[in-house]
Amino acid sequence: MQPCSRPLLALIALFAAAISALSGCSTDAATADTWTEQERAFVAAMQPLGAPRPSAGNAVADDPDAAKLGHRLFFDLCFSADGTVGCATCHQPEHGFADGKALAEGLGTATRHAPTALGAAWQPWQFWDGRADSLWMQALGPIENPVEHGFDRVAVAHTLAAHYKPEYEALFGPLPPLQDSSRFPAHARPVDDDPKHPQQQAWAAMTEADRDAVNRVFANFGKAIEAYERKLKPAPIALDAFVAAFVAGDDAGGGHLDASATRGLHLFVGKAGCAFCHSGPRLSNGAFHNIGLAQPEGTPAQDRGRYLGTGQVLASVFNCLGPYSDAGGQGCGELPYLVDKEIVMLGAFKTPSLRNVAKTAPYMHAGQYATLGEVVEHYRHIEDHLAPIGPRESFLRNLDMTDGERDDLLAFLHTLDAEPADSAWASPPTQR
Ligand code: HEC
Ligand code: HEC
Repeated sequence: MQPCSRPLLALIALFAAAISALSGCSTDAATADTWTEQERAFVAAMQPLGAPRPSAGNAVADDPDAAKLGHRLFFDLCFSADGTVGCATCHQPEHGFADGKALAEGLGTATRHAPTALGAAWQPWQFWDGRADSLWMQALGPIENPVEHGFDRVAVAHTLAAHYKPEYEALFGPLPPLQDSSRFPAHARPVDDDPKHPQQQAWAAMTEADRDAVNRVFANFGKAIEAYERKLKPAPIALDAFVAAFVAGDDAGGGHLDASATRGLHLFVGKAGCAFCHSGPRLSNGAFHNIGLAQPEGTPAQDRGRYLGTGQVLASVFNCLGPYSDAGGQGCGELPYLVDKEIVMLGAFKTPSLRNVAKTAPYMHAGQYATLGEVVEHYRHIEDHLAPIGPRESFLRNLDMTDGERDDLLAFLHTLDAEPADSAWASPPTQR
């Protein structure tokens, strides 16, 4: 085993115990036999998850050997400045592939909360602000983030050469001559906002062709990780069976949700309005909204969110239309049509999937809420919450909801728990 590769065994041993179902006071306000056409359409759209979205920019996205390599890279601690941080530090299987913390902690503390990596391959944009349009592009961000892995792309190439050369070269062809230290320093990366940074200076001193070669290796590193993350599919849940029965004509959904959770679903697609954004198989529209969340201590007073995320994904050489993409300009989704710096995107963040939501506390882009109960209270009294920047979604109004209805809504959210469909992929590679 590699010297700094200490798989996170301690982290992986057990999945957290299932959160006990809330008792749920009964209420007669929403009964299962009065679904409107719109409510029916929202329920029907919550189909089970199919295959992950195609990843046009990644030729090895569905290559089994790439997934095996990515699996090892995800849990490896060697790709960090001091050998202590891996992807699984903040995306821990036993925390639903999140970390249980309000703000993520790697070499330092991040200004945002770690979302789950489970099911991420089913969404069009990655990060809370969607500043990556693929999982392979996404994976490159934390590596060079000083408070996460604190590493750099040339060091990634050296580490691949030292520990993964045969597996890498079988997939992607020969590595560049990295042993030539006059061409490839130990550490170098572009540091756009600091021309004096030693790693920026080392990067600028390399030839354009060598920088290109390193960028290609870095992109391939991300592509192997994406192939792995595409295996992280949430297992089917009771809602899937409910929806199948409901679509087949049984308004009681075959009894696959209990009475309280069924009333909760009815509220979710009905008068609580949740399904306007939490829609479809993932219970997310994949879009960006400002829901008026205060910024907690330790984060910027104003986080512009998607307003800046659009420009970042458009400018990156690692997007689907860039030189390291395998897409050939085709199949890049909304990227070619993306509008930058829309005012309505100020303070807007991505609607998270709610599959498995009870396992990924705390909640929201900066971990603002510790419990689902606090989240529901936020929506219930939303008019009390002014966004620190940008316009809060104007159709969000206080919810006229009894405490019993709140409990029903929470009972529904607690039925969405899903283990990963394949536990071998969800464990560190040494346990396979
Ligand atoms: C220090 C903790 C930390 C480490 C290490 C880390 N992440 Fe994350 N991850 C985060 C945070 C925080 C975000 C959200 C950041 C943002 O939106 O600005 C995130 C976002 C993501 C997302 C996007 C999910 C979504 O719904 O938008 C994926 C996928 C992901 N990380 C995978 C990885 C991979 C792969 C690695 C290793 C290469 C990794 N992460 C390393 C903390 C971490
Ligand atoms: C206008 C669109 C919209 C509506 C309507 C909406 N949400 Fe959300 N929801 C979001 C967005 C966007 C976020 C993330 C916001 C952020 O972090 O800045 C979110 C976050 C959440 C989270 C936290 C998930 C996590 O992993 O952090 C939960 C739970 C949630 N919503 C449940 C609900 C419920 C229940 C309702 C109905 C009462 C609802 N939402 C209505 C858009 C919406």
